[in-house]
Amino acid sequence: MNSRFGIEGIAVSIPSHYIDLKTLAEARGIDPAKYYVGLGGRRMAVVTPEEDPVTLAAEAARKVLGGYQVTPDDIGMLIVGSESGVDAAKPIAAYVHGLLGLNPQCRTFDTQHACYGATAALRLAADWCAQGNGRRRKALVIATDIARYEVGSAGEPTQGAGAVAMLVSTEPGVVAFDAYPDAVFTEDVMDFWRPHYRSTALVDGKYSIECYLRALEHTYEAYERSSGVRWEDFTHLLFHVPFPKMAYKAFRRLYEREAARRNGDFPPLDAEYERLTGPALWANVEVGNIYSGSLYLSLAALLERQDAAVAGGRIGLFSYGSGSCAEFFSGSVGPDASVWRGRIGVAEALAHRTEVGYETYLALRRAGEAMSKNGSFRAPGPEANGHVRFLGIHDDRRVYDRPGRRAMV
Ligand code: CAA
Repeated sequence: MNSRFGIEGIAVSIPSHYIDLKTLAEARGIDPAKYYVGLGGRRMAVVTPEEDPVTLAAEAARKVLGGYQVTPDDIGMLIVGSESGVDAAKPIAAYVHGLLGLNPQCRTFDTQHACYGATAALRLAADWCAQGNGRRRKALVIATDIARYEVGSAGEPTQGAGAVAMLVSTEPGVVAFDAYPDAVFTEDVMDFWRPHYRSTALVDGKYSIECYLRALEHTYEAYERSSGVRWEDFTHLLFHVPFPKMAYKAFRRLYEREAARRNGDFPPLDAEYERLTGPALWANVEVGNIYSGSLYLSLAALLERQDAAVAGGRIGLFSYGSGSCAEFFSGSVGPDASVWRGRIGVAEALAHRTEVGYETYLALRRAGEAMSKNGSFRAPGPEANGHVRFLGIHDDRRVYDRPGRRAMV
C-alpha cells in the first residue's frame, strides 16, 4: 500500500465561445445585477456543434498528457466522470481512449452521479494507485459536462461547459490526498435530474440549494470528526460551484458554524471568504457550471493564479452531486509550483474565446440539438483549428475528427 497518492497533473479545456450574462439578462428583461451579483456569474461557455462532452474531454486529456510528458502507454486506467453521456451503452471514456490512442491494456469506463461523478472517479483511481494495482502506471480521470437548462428557465443563466483532466498517480506533485476520512453523505432526493428523454435538466432550484447545504453540513461534520483537521489547518476551501454565489452560501454555512464555536472571536465573514474561497472562483465566474468539473475547475484556477502562494498549503474540497451524493475530502498542495506552472491552461483558453450575441446563442443550441440526430454527419472542412471535432452522426455512429487522423466512421 502506497501512502502517497493524488493528482500529478491537471489541465482544462473550455469551449471556444461564450455569452455575457448581461446579454442574456437583457434578452429576458431581467436586471443584469441578478445574474452578476445575485448568482455571481459574469459569462457562460457556449458550445458549437463541433464541441461535445467527448471533444472537451479529449482536449483536456491531450493537454494534460502533453504538459506532463506522459505517453499513452503510461495510462492503465481511464475514467470519465460525466452526466452528459452521449450513448446509453458506450461510455465517453471509450471514445476518448480511441481519440488519444491509449494502450489497449487499460481499464476504461464512465462514472455517473450528477456532479459527483468525477469525485467518484478520482476516489477509485486514487485507491487503484495506492494499492499498487497500476503497477506504476497512472490513471487518467476526466470530468466533462455540458450544463443545459430550458431556454427562459431560472437555471439557464447557470449553464456552462468544459472539461478538467487529471493524472492520478503515486507521484502527486500537484495535490497529495489526505488519507480519506469517511465523510460521505447520500440521500435519495429529487432536487435536480434529467430523464433519458430530455436534453435539458429539470431542477427544483431552492430545494436543490437546501439539499446541497444539508449534505455539506453532514460531510463536513464527519470530516472533522474523523480527520482531526481543523478550520485553521486549511489554506483554501473549495466547493462544488453550480453558480459562484452557491460557493459563498456554502462557505457562509461552515463559517457560521465555526464562528459560533469560537464565541465571536473570529475574523469577519467576508475577509475569511476572500482568504479561503474567493481566489478559486475566477474561472467559474467566466465559464458557468461544468457539473462534474466545476469543483476541479476551481482547483485548477486556484493553482494557476495563486501559483507559489498556494504551494505547500492544505485544501478542503466539497463535492456535491444532486440526487444526491456528497463528499468532503482534503489534500496537500505540492511544495513546488513549477510542477503545474504553465500547464493548466485556464487563462489561455479564456483568452481565445469568441463572444456571441443572444440570437447566435440560440442558433448554436438548435444546431447542437440537430447534431444529436442520426444523419447529421457532414464531411469536414479543412482542419482549421487543430482540435478534436465532432462531425455528427452517420449510420447511428458518432464521428470524430482529431488533428492528424481522419474520422472514425
Ligand atoms: N440585483 C442583485 N441581486 C438580485 C437581484 C438584483 N436585481 N434580483 C435577485 N437577486 C438575488 C436574489 O436576492 C438571490 O440572492 P440570494 O440567493 O442571496 O437570496 C439571487 O439573486 C437569486 O435570485 P432568485 O432566488 O430569485 O433566483 P431564481 O429563483 O430565479 O433562481 C436558482 C436561482 C434557483 C439558483 C436557479 O438559478 C436554478 O434553478 N439553478 C440551477 C440549480 C442549481 O444550481 N442548484 C444549486 C444546488 S444543486 C447543485 O449544486 C447541482 C448542480 O450543479 C445543478
